[in-house]
Amino acid sequence: MSRILVTTPIPDPGPSILEAAGEVEVRALGAAELADACASGRYAVVVSQLGDRFDGALLSRAQIVGISNYAVGYDNIDVAAATEHGITVTNTPGVLTDSTADVALLLMLATARRAIEADAFVRAGLFDGWKPELMLGTDVSGRVLGLAGFGRIARATARRALAFGMTVNFCPRPPGDRPVSDSELGEFAGRVNHVSWDDIVTGSDFLSLHIPLSDATHHLVDSAALSAMKPSAVLINTARGPVVDETALVTALHDGVIAAAGLDVYEHEPRLAPGLADLPNVVLLPHVGSATVSVRSEMARLCATNAAAMATGSKPPHCVNP
Ligand code: DGY
Repeated sequence: MSRILVTTPIPDPGPSILEAAGEVEVRALGAAELADACASGRYAVVVSQLGDRFDGALLSRAQIVGISNYAVGYDNIDVAAATEHGITVTNTPGVLTDSTADVALLLMLATARRAIEADAFVRAGLFDGWKPELMLGTDVSGRVLGLAGFGRIARATARRALAFGMTVNFCPRPPGDRPVSDSELGEFAGRVNHVSWDDIVTGSDFLSLHIPLSDATHHLVDSAALSAMKPSAVLINTARGPVVDETALVTALHDGVIAAAGLDVYEHEPRLAPGLADLPNVVLLPHVGSATVSVRSEMARLCATNAAAMATGSKPPHCVNP
């Protein structure tokens, strides 16, 4: 039986699917230990999570068949190097779309309506009755939502935003562009507007990021982009932290260059940029876009099914190698 290394325990039904396919070892490993484990020839498959880095150096030594990432994103893995060394990489697409879009909306509403600040105000015993000007926020309906990206999660976010009465603009592959046909737009044809990255940046009341991290998107939202946004704009990031220059964001929030931000992901996760947590105009979540019981269980099922297929020599359902 093949050995499967699991770096972080995954929920049911993951373990039973893995155990039926191979001998499972659950081991929390540091970076050097992970590299050695992959090079040892002891494991056929590694079940990994976002904090496990598989770079070119690790992959060039690795004696493994595949990596099953417990996530839809896989920027922690150098897929080109994995492909070069004949290592299959898989992810968990589709099952966390709605939960992540929910968190994008949650962050929009929480920032617009100052929910965290208001909660702290009540808990501190400061609420002494209704007042015409207490905790005034911003409307969401009637405002412009700019979506960076137009994949599954962006579309689910668009669906929700349209129901809230927002105008929805999208840029499918920022900072560049690509054509989008009416048939690709499907249910959104005539209901959302395809615009350039520059127009998304300058024209959005809420700018929500839904793009993978790559060389092209690293620091896509930098100090220049932040300066080009409306002073009343809100930045939402449920994608990947390094898409935003977090130090520049702290300065922009502090100086009123933009009004607020709602973040579920961080540039140097789990560390925050100095000063970020001291700002009143940012809502901070601990990377919980997919964190519902049912979604994490579905992710475990997909992840374990991918790993089991690779451990038993069949084609995994969700391979990301080109
Ligand atoms: C992912 O799957 O890529 C999320 O960031 C974590 O669920």
